[in-house]
Amino acid sequence: MTGDDERSTRRPTPDGTSTPVTPAPTTVSPGTATVGSAAPGTASDGTASDGTAIDGTTVDGMASDATASDAPATAAGSARQTSATAATDAARQPSAGRLKLTRWLVGHTKNLLAPLVGSVAARIVNQLLGVALFVVAAGSIARAASTGAVALLPLAGTLVGLALVKALLRYLEHYLGHWVAFTALQRLRELFFSRLAPQAPAATAGRAGAELTERATRDIDRIEVFFAHTLPPAVSAVVVPAVALSWLAAVTDARLALAIAPFVAVIVVLLPLLAARSTWRSAERVGRARGAIATEVGDDVQGVREILAFGAERQRLRRLDAADAALTRARSGEGCVRGVRAGLVVLLQTGALVAVVIVGTSIGADAPTIATALAVGVGLWAPTRGVDEFLAGLDGAFAATARVRRVVDAEAPVRDPVVPRTAGAEASATLRGVTVRYPGDARPALDDVDATFPAGSWTAVVGVSGSGKSTLGALLPRGRDADTGTVTLGGTDVRDLALDELRGRVALVSQRPTLLRGTLADNLRLAAPDASDEGLHAALRIAALDEWIDALPDGLETATGERGAAVSGGQLQRLALARALVAHPTVLVLDEALSQLDAETAASVRARLREHRPELTVVEITHRADLVPDDGRVVVIDAGRVVETGTAGELRERAGAFRHLEARAGT
Ligand SMILES: Nc1ncnc2c1ncn2[C@@H]1O[C@H](COP(=O)(O)OP(=O)(O)O)[C@@H](O)[C@H]1O
Ligand SMILES: [Mg+2]
Repeated sequence: MTGDDERSTRRPTPDGTSTPVTPAPTTVSPGTATVGSAAPGTASDGTASDGTAIDGTTVDGMASDATASDAPATAAGSARQTSATAATDAARQPSAGRLKLTRWLVGHTKNLLAPLVGSVAARIVNQLLGVALFVVAAGSIARAASTGAVALLPLAGTLVGLALVKALLRYLEHYLGHWVAFTALQRLRELFFSRLAPQAPAATAGRAGAELTERATRDIDRIEVFFAHTLPPAVSAVVVPAVALSWLAAVTDARLALAIAPFVAVIVVLLPLLAARSTWRSAERVGRARGAIATEVGDDVQGVREILAFGAERQRLRRLDAADAALTRARSGEGCVRGVRAGLVVLLQTGALVAVVIVGTSIGADAPTIATALAVGVGLWAPTRGVDEFLAGLDGAFAATARVRRVVDAEAPVRDPVVPRTAGAEASATLRGVTVRYPGDARPALDDVDATFPAGSWTAVVGVSGSGKSTLGALLPRGRDADTGTVTLGGTDVRDLALDELRGRVALVSQRPTLLRGTLADNLRLAAPDASDEGLHAALRIAALDEWIDALPDGLETATGERGAAVSGGQLQRLALARALVAHPTVLVLDEALSQLDAETAASVRARLREHRPELTVVEITHRADLVPDDGRVVVIDAGRVVETGTAGELRERAGAFRHLEARAGT
């Protein structure tokens, strides 16, 4: 796709700007590249791969939204996630993975130990009382049967008392358990976003967004099972039978306790172990299938206009159907395992009672003794079933944890320097011997590039689509770093500057910016929260939006929808420019940022920018070579190399690359 194609998707509107026929957010822009799963770094993620995850997403280089404030924190290359070792291990070896994930999750329960222990204790006592309830009732019945007399009132009083205490303990168990769970989830969510932010925009662009939303919301919610519904049942499933059977052995006959013990052991230990691998696998499959559906739906929502325009509803529905069918298969596999296990549990529980009767009669125990043993056997149903109930949910929680970790543990592509330096006040920028190669690409996107952008200059960087222009622009605010060579701002290597400072000084305005939900003023103040209304108006004047804003009934307080649906493509681009200007950067990188403006409006914006911000160093990336004035500085890049530099006037004299581009742009 050439730059020309972009223009063909625009049509002029009465307001003098142009509207994209194709909605901006989904327009495929030049330089769009698929980050393939073949990328190094994902290989280790192979078995754990999420299929649709961040790794396999389509990202648009640095051309995704970025302004002064949300300057690209990363390059698309970062979408290649360095997988969490635990997550990878987890997929290969469920048990080792579970252990690591458990350790990681428990790491988020600092200072939560007391309530967690409280929750466990409440459950244990509650379930022991449950056993006692059965024993008291059965004992009374047995006594009544043998003696014919029973004191009804004390019995009823005891049973009601036990039940009330049990209710209280159950409340306590759940209250404390959930308090721990939600506190831990809150910590996880904060961690998730704090780690994700530096990976943006590449990791969050397009399709990956929907899948990430699924991770940030439902996956994290699923981890609740681990905190609130795992430890208490797991501990009580062991402790309650141990205590109850010891008591039974002490007050009746050890052989009766031994009759029950093997059944309990099989339910609590052996069954879960046997089912471990398959529950893990199906939990993973279900998680993946859910992610795939989220991706499909995310695509459908974002691309709804294309889908309707091209009549692709059926095709899209079929895809969704297929994704849905995959989820159904995964879930029915999970259901099968659960069903079989639940059946076996009932069989074993009944088996324990039969064993008690056989052993009891063979050792000549009396009826009340056998009744007591039976009561204990029945009383242990609830605590032992607890294991079975949380197991499936627990593996779901582990699978969710693994997916969350893949985001949390991914490397941020650029980091703050350990000891930041302060840049000179001078607003020049240079590239020296800069080479950038995207992982998996055959040739470098930038190859030994030298370029100078003197303070206060305006330089047009021109080249065909895919020549490396956006990559060059992204280097200045450190959207990504050069593999070799240096990029400097005011003579200082950008890698030595604090990221906040650098991005405060270098603003990048992309071709397809995003407006956040809020008001126009909120959006304009994104990079400079303290900017005055006058500051906003000044920036809007430069972007030639002052009249438009003044004509709006709510002016700066006009609400903006998600993705800025309410404004045209040209207005959106100019708002993004104004937003960048509000923060008073010293270097402004315009990456095809005026591409949707008609030539006249674009020229007026350029003139106003030059007039009102003469000190600003502007790097304007554009494919419109024909619009560069004769005295404009030009850097022509082709296939990642600088092939011509000079003023447009000089280059127009030669029959070189610039002339060639100009001829293409004009057509
Ligand atoms: N995230 C990425 N992953 C892999 N290759 C990329 C990525 N971004 C850009 N490229 C490749 O780098 C080259 C230069 O891209 P780009 O800088 O976007 O060019 P331009 O802005 O001039 O269209 C192209 O060949 C493109 O395919
Ligand atoms: Mg580009």
